[in-house]
Amino acid sequence: MSWWRDAVIYQVYTRSFQDSNGDGIGDLEGVIQRLDYLAALGVDVIWLSPLHPGPNIDLGYDGTDYLQVAPEFGTLDVVDRLVTEAKRRGIRIMMDLVLDYTSTAHPWFVQARSSRTSPFYDWYIWRDGAPDQPPNDWTAFFSSGSAWTFNQPTRSWYLHYFTVDQPELNWANPHLRQAMHDVMRFWLSRGVAGFRLDVISFLSKPPLDQNLPDEFRSAPGRFYANGPELHAYLREIRAVLDEFPGTVALGEGFGIDLADAPHFVAPQRRELDLMFLFNLSALTFAETAEYRRPDLAQIREALERVDTILSGKNAWPTVFLGNHDVARMLNRFGNPEAPYRAASAKLLITLLLTLRGTPVIYQGDEIGMVNTRFDTIGEFRDIAVWNAWTGAGSDEAARNKVLSRARQVGRDTGRGAVRWTGDTRAGFTTGTPWIKVDPDLPGFSVAEQEDDDESPLRWTRRLSELRRASPALRSGSLDWLEAGPQILCFERGRDAERWRIILNWSDEPADCGNLLANSRAALSSLAREPGSSPALGPWEAVLVRL
Ligand code: GLC
Ligand code: CA
Repeated sequence: MSWWRDAVIYQVYTRSFQDSNGDGIGDLEGVIQRLDYLAALGVDVIWLSPLHPGPNIDLGYDGTDYLQVAPEFGTLDVVDRLVTEAKRRGIRIMMDLVLDYTSTAHPWFVQARSSRTSPFYDWYIWRDGAPDQPPNDWTAFFSSGSAWTFNQPTRSWYLHYFTVDQPELNWANPHLRQAMHDVMRFWLSRGVAGFRLDVISFLSKPPLDQNLPDEFRSAPGRFYANGPELHAYLREIRAVLDEFPGTVALGEGFGIDLADAPHFVAPQRRELDLMFLFNLSALTFAETAEYRRPDLAQIREALERVDTILSGKNAWPTVFLGNHDVARMLNRFGNPEAPYRAASAKLLITLLLTLRGTPVIYQGDEIGMVNTRFDTIGEFRDIAVWNAWTGAGSDEAARNKVLSRARQVGRDTGRGAVRWTGDTRAGFTTGTPWIKVDPDLPGFSVAEQEDDDESPLRWTRRLSELRRASPALRSGSLDWLEAGPQILCFERGRDAERWRIILNWSDEPADCGNLLANSRAALSSLAREPGSSPALGPWEAVLVRL
């Protein structure tokens, strides 16, 4: 029943995946066209970023109709066809559902904001008060301003953790909860296999009559998360999923403390199955002028901690190195420079596919895509960047800081179109791409990598086949080995099958002592005979069968 423990999930950020009609925007028809590619990659589940129509201020995370598909992506019929075509290839579809807030343009909010007597008024979070005095000092993400906006017709303030266009829903209202449960049923009965639940940690609000405690001021997510009723709401959500046996819930655990994570995903809790936890990702949010990748010791500590905490409670980790909210995994954890790029892509993919947990591959990471290089502010599409830019006003230094940060770690850097071919529009579209596609080195497209036995793509395929055939890699124990400052090393074992994974996380060769000794067989990402030398090449990944 817990099939998702064995699955490989692949995130399709539809807008940038494959355009089928030349309007420059990726669409569902495009996903259908690429199903064979995904099947060959060993993908079991496709997570599709939100498909709902809306003003796209936050690119899909601001819906106006939960029961429809945005016209730029397709129609309900295309979704049905996608579900069927995917199923024929053994692939399930997981939808992204934004249960925490809607767009201000959603009819619920349009009615709510028009009058306090509207039945929808209580579906959002309001507080009375004078127009110049927000109810508390909570701040919104994607801007440095207040999390409250005054609404003239009702003479009250509404809460928004993100932009002013994304009002928070009031999950304490039973009618709202009912409506959302029906939304889930609508999609589950169309055959989707479950949901990625966007910022699910924020559904229940902390008491509103307090200011942000000082310790949360720089990162309010931990304060907004895990409100008093959250577990109750999740149990109701689980009950709806249980009406459709075999469906899965993967929650975005933004702000959840690691120590609390098992309360959400331990199987006996009957809440979520999987959860994105951000302790590893958080290492890459550093606000330094020049981005520096975290030390291997920190990476190892983060990986080990999340695994220990979850498996201590029989819960199952979710392993991810990238998504649509961060820069490319290669830029954050590897070395994107030409001589190391392919090797470090293969090393990171190896980590994803051999750690304990369900791996989530972000589109394009299997071919070693790197950050899009943006030159001017006008090239960015992300509201978070624009708001930060506006906030900087005419202060030159502040503007430069915004631009430099957006270039290095901004969300748009990882949202570039998948490079299907080496062509100037990457084989993504015949029209004008919605976001910049910049020229890339030869060799870093799907078409070119198909023909190269040593490419990141072919390595990803080889490893996902190996994983599929290996109970030890899927569900075996995980044991960490000490192996010097440049090397990450662990073993996975089940019954008589045991693998040692050795990763040289650096630009220099690394002596790995006797870690390669006594192997029955070995597989190297640099296509060499690993027994031939005890040293690993820069960014080499080796899998040793013990
Ligand atoms: C989630 C989404 C992100 C979105 C945010 C607020 O974190 O992953 O893309 O911007 O919610 O809407
Ligand atoms: Ca299109």
